[in-house]
Amino acid sequence: MTLLEQLRRYGESGACPMHMPGHKRTDLGGPLPWGLDITEIDGFDNLHDAQGILKDSMDRAARLYGSDRAFYLINGSTCGILAGICAAARPGDTVLLSRGCHKSVYHALELRELVPVYLTAPLDRATGVTASLPPQAVADALAAHPEAKLLIVTSPTYEGVCSDLKSIVDLAHSVGVPVLVDAAHGAHLGFSPAFPDGAVQSGADIVIQSLHKTLPSLTQTSLAHWNRGLVDGDEFARQLSIFETSSPSYLLMGSIDQCVDLLEQQGRDLFAAYENNLAAFDRAITGLRHLRVLCYGRDRLADHPGFFAFDPGKLVISTRGAGLTGPALMERLRREDHIELEMAMGDYVLAMTSVCDTEESLGRLASALLRVDAGLRQEPVPATPAPCPLPERRLLISQARRMPGGAVPLAEAVGQVCGEMVWAYPPGVPLLVPGEVISAEMAEVLRDLSARGVCFHGERGCPPETVWTLKNCGV
Ligand SMILES: Cc1ncc(COP(=O)(O)O)c(C=O)c1O
Repeated sequence: MTLLEQLRRYGESGACPMHMPGHKRTDLGGPLPWGLDITEIDGFDNLHDAQGILKDSMDRAARLYGSDRAFYLINGSTCGILAGICAAARPGDTVLLSRGCHKSVYHALELRELVPVYLTAPLDRATGVTASLPPQAVADALAAHPEAKLLIVTSPTYEGVCSDLKSIVDLAHSVGVPVLVDAAHGAHLGFSPAFPDGAVQSGADIVIQSLHKTLPSLTQTSLAHWNRGLVDGDEFARQLSIFETSSPSYLLMGSIDQCVDLLEQQGRDLFAAYENNLAAFDRAITGLRHLRVLCYGRDRLADHPGFFAFDPGKLVISTRGAGLTGPALMERLRREDHIELEMAMGDYVLAMTSVCDTEESLGRLASALLRVDAGLRQEPVPATPAPCPLPERRLLISQARRMPGGAVPLAEAVGQVCGEMVWAYPPGVPLLVPGEVISAEMAEVLRDLSARGVCFHGERGCPPETVWTLKNCGV
């Protein structure tokens, strides 16, 4: 069977998509036939030197979100993150970043040979989900590292946890440090008072948003926003032209344009209906006794004091104390209800919603959760483990890449210097980073998550069984 046949067949199977892309396979974003797939022919402008229809369209996106300049990204947020970091930091610069950044940020560290200073956010006691990055942690890091040239923050996180970006940006700007916000999961924020503010409103210098994750737009479509101030806009545009394909797809760009148009013309109504659908879900799941949906049903934002704000579009379902793992719940919903979730971690799952969900699709999820919940029994709630201490760094990522190494069993790897990036996908946040000593605690986290059914990816080894470590680097 060809890939297209398999895709069509799956599309007709009745599966309920609680995952990306945000268009949920509806055609709210407009029809997109083959006949629209062109190249830079007369009258259609050129993304890499936009002066016509594409410039107008990007200007409209900037107006919609309130930025000084917007750029289309058709290689996803990944290319905007790479370009933004390369524009804001010179080779060898020190940068401050949340440890929970997506791997594209770590790739930029590698390419630019940057010196990272990691900021850690606390874990939510009730669920173990990473909480907001406290502004105080940023203030302390800025004071301890006056040499820092850039601050990189992820908000919202994959799970929908937002940080106090306004305070964080003000702190960084007060000492002349620009801020890049990875808002890949936040393109839908700022359009309704029921959702937290969008990242552009914080005044950050560069904001990257994946339209495709949470809005009706095709996969790979994203926006980069630039605000006048601390990052050279022309250099950002030049870096984008390095990381973005020289043959940008007009279908993808058309999808972005259509999405922006939709938000402009019908955003208010779409979000009003979305809020109603989420409110109906909220009422429907109040009867859950064991599963807990963050900030829904009986759970409240106040139960998570480490959350500055939470995106109600993310349904994070905690299985803590309910006697089943996140991957087990994901598998049950897939097998028994034909509902496909976005992600499963050790003891929670993530269902992603969007304006394209309906009362019916959310009702289907609510009924499935109630049915599963009815068959569960209360188990002792495990204590939230403290976050792993930051590992000792022996080499920069770029230096580690040049060292010889080999795959060794995880137990033997403890105490050795890691030679590869290891992450669970999704969310694509590295747990092991090249050049860092592998700690016993982190090896235990890998073993524990793996035993609960979380899958890991590495670049060279086969984690968690084997990990690539470096030879001859003085350990
Ligand atoms: C927090 C975060 N940043 C960036 C990215 C990369 O986005 P894209 O897939 O649009 O390149 C992802 C992808 O999952 C992500 O979760």
